[in-house]
Amino acid sequence: MANKNQTVVVLDFGGQYKELIARRVRECKVRSQILAGNTPIETLREIAPIGIILTGGPHSVYEENSPHTTKELFELGIPILGICYGMQLMAYTLGGEVRSCQVSEYGTIDTTLDKHSPLFEGLDKETVSLMSHTDYVAKMPEGFNALAHTRDCPIAAMENSERRLYAVQFHPEVERTKNGTKLLNNFLYNVCGALGDYNMDDFIKNEIERIREQVGDHQVVLGLSGGVDSSVCAAILEKAIPNQLTCIFVDHGMMRKNEGDEIEEAFAGKSLNFVRVDAEKRFLTKLAGVTEPERKRKIIGEEFVRVFEEESSKFAGSFLAQGTIYPDVVESGLTTGAVIKSHHNVGGLPKDTKFIGLVEPLRSLFKDEVRALGRKLGLDERLVSRQPFPGPGLAVRCIGEITKERLDILRDADAIYRYELEHADLHYSQYFAVLTDMRTVGVMGDGRTYNYVLGLRAVVTSDFMTAEYAHIPYDVLDRVSSRIVNEVKGVSRVVYDVTGKPPATIEWE
Ligand code: XMP
Repeated sequence: MANKNQTVVVLDFGGQYKELIARRVRECKVRSQILAGNTPIETLREIAPIGIILTGGPHSVYEENSPHTTKELFELGIPILGICYGMQLMAYTLGGEVRSCQVSEYGTIDTTLDKHSPLFEGLDKETVSLMSHTDYVAKMPEGFNALAHTRDCPIAAMENSERRLYAVQFHPEVERTKNGTKLLNNFLYNVCGALGDYNMDDFIKNEIERIREQVGDHQVVLGLSGGVDSSVCAAILEKAIPNQLTCIFVDHGMMRKNEGDEIEEAFAGKSLNFVRVDAEKRFLTKLAGVTEPERKRKIIGEEFVRVFEEESSKFAGSFLAQGTIYPDVVESGLTTGAVIKSHHNVGGLPKDTKFIGLVEPLRSLFKDEVRALGRKLGLDERLVSRQPFPGPGLAVRCIGEITKERLDILRDADAIYRYELEHADLHYSQYFAVLTDMRTVGVMGDGRTYNYVLGLRAVVTSDFMTAEYAHIPYDVLDRVSSRIVNEVKGVSRVVYDVTGKPPATIEWE
């Protein structure tokens, strides 16, 4: 089914901000799609975007292997905004000149917007922008005007308004550029003629139609973990094809306290078939005596696939649904420079499959859009705003050997910790307890104890790639610690992890 929304294509030239650009465009209510920089012109013509944005990248246009484009791109008649390397590429391809900076600019730089431009509507003349470049446009191609400058960059923005070609040396997509989103909004609405027709209600309507068209009368099977993606995937499938969906929840016994029941409850009463596979014993048997973190992960991953295959084999001839989201698609598809238009870049069906096709309702959405969709579909807020939880579950938070007894100690302590943080209205990005394999001496009443050390972790992060430890108030830590040692048998000491990522990771294993 053709896409009904206006689209802006983000052509990737290796910049770390490609996803951010695409998200910002969507925040402006315009659909965006990331494609590799070398996407054929023919493909772009077929997509017929209302605008094209060229991303930045770490290259120099004069390097032999740097990504290039052709003049034809600029002759499509589609408005184009070049950002950073995208600006240099525009200048270079159209006959301008790019040179190495005498003074490279990194960081937020005072920037003067010298001329009126549809791009600058509502922006202050004196502003700041995030710069990160070692090359600059020294001479513009014919027909271009300079629009802005900084102390060390004479042409910080340029336009050829007749051809609707615009470029900025700075990064409007990041927060550190003042009014950067406004600039992007101006490009979309003042230059590209955006209508702002991309919204969640429309997405739901279109996607439901698409799912129905794809699936017909067939059954669909979905592996449900209780995480945000698979839960939202289940919710939209249930709306689209009620009574044709089976959700298989493999309970590996390493979920948090009451979590399995909560997941089951969230989907009870819906028009779907919920299958909970109690596989705790199977997993614990496989894990007995294993202490090495990578081995634990491998065993759990393999066993998971086996259990899911056994259960889903009862549904041969069905579609398989997956909660693949856009960043998964982008990351797996663009690294090779391949064009992302094929639908088999991520998680394609294996050759010997018993399924007849793959349904991926979320594959065009970013994580925050997935959450917004979940809310629109009326999914329980606990599921929608759920913190990331590793696939191997508590296995990687139970240092050393995994036994049911040790998992129960961890579950009880973790539940107290989470309860106290939430009741103190502290909503950090991720927080959990870790049971160490270390015992220390303690004293309880008149007796000596020799029990486990329990670690507490709480981090603040926006992307989980880097993180800072949360500054939990001491009184809350006091309460958590005292409740855990008093209420959880087996723990005699509580410690708080005050390490950022890097150098530590968020999880302990
Ligand atoms: P680390 O520990 O690498 O974790 O700093 C970064 C984020 O990823 C989560 N995580 C996982 N998620 N399967 C997952 O789905 C895994 O095996 C896994 N390991 C770590 C972690 O909770 C954190 O949010």
